[in-house]
Amino acid sequence: MKSLRFDIITIFPNLFASYLEETIIARAIRKKLLRVNLVDLRRFAKAHDAHRSVDGRPYGGGPGMILLLEPIFKALRSLKLVSASGIRTGKRTRVVMLTPDGKQFNQREAERLAKYDRLVLLCGRYEGFDARTLKLVDEKLSIGPYVLAGGELPAMVVLEAVARHIPGVVGHPDALKEETFSKGMDYVEYPQYTRPEKFVPAGLRLRGSDLRSKRGAAWRVPKILLSGDHKKIAEWRKRHWASR
Ligand code: ADE
Repeated sequence: MKSLRFDIITIFPNLFASYLEETIIARAIRKKLLRVNLVDLRRFAKAHDAHRSVDGRPYGGGPGMILLLEPIFKALRSLKLVSASGIRTGKRTRVVMLTPDGKQFNQREAERLAKYDRLVLLCGRYEGFDARTLKLVDEKLSIGPYVLAGGELPAMVVLEAVARHIPGVVGHPDALKEETFSKGMDYVEYPQYTRPEKFVPAGLRLRGSDLRSKRGAAWRVPKILLSGDHKKIAEWRKRHWASR
């Protein structure tokens, strides 16, 4: 059985608590398909520092604070990812820094990362990392072209998108197969409907085909989907299989 271990290095481990207790992630943890180890970076601050500070001012000046290199180094060493001979992640482990200047994360990247046995996610805060931190990581990832206050939300995004590729995490195995990502396109899927067949949006002025219907103003499910004709339904879906 494939299982994947995440180590998440963060100064806000509590941010993850409710997320890990709900959703498909909790189920995957219960089923032992997934293991998530939260590593509080402050544990690795200097012992004599009452504030347990993990950040410092940038040399040369500039706004904001930078995450210190040493606590990150120590956190990785506690995870046995640094030895006397240097960084030692091995083929089955990947150390990933979450940063807005990283490589764009996407579905293909999620599939790629799901092949590892262990992923270490390093969450930033403040104005970023000491540049030497790069010597400790295998790659940098960004979840999108915007700057967040830290890497915690990106870590949750990566965790969920990757976890869905571990067999057994997504309830219905076909659910993964049906979601198709083709070159140059984002998520593509056909439109889907569930109950009711006809919804009358009370008090709303309707437009176009919703209004022209002989049977009164309503939002209806396309008739073909109610026909039971699987061949026609498949054709209809193919025709409506467009990128959103
Ligand atoms: N940290 C701050 N913004 C981020 C982003 N867009 N992706 C990954 N990590 C980040």
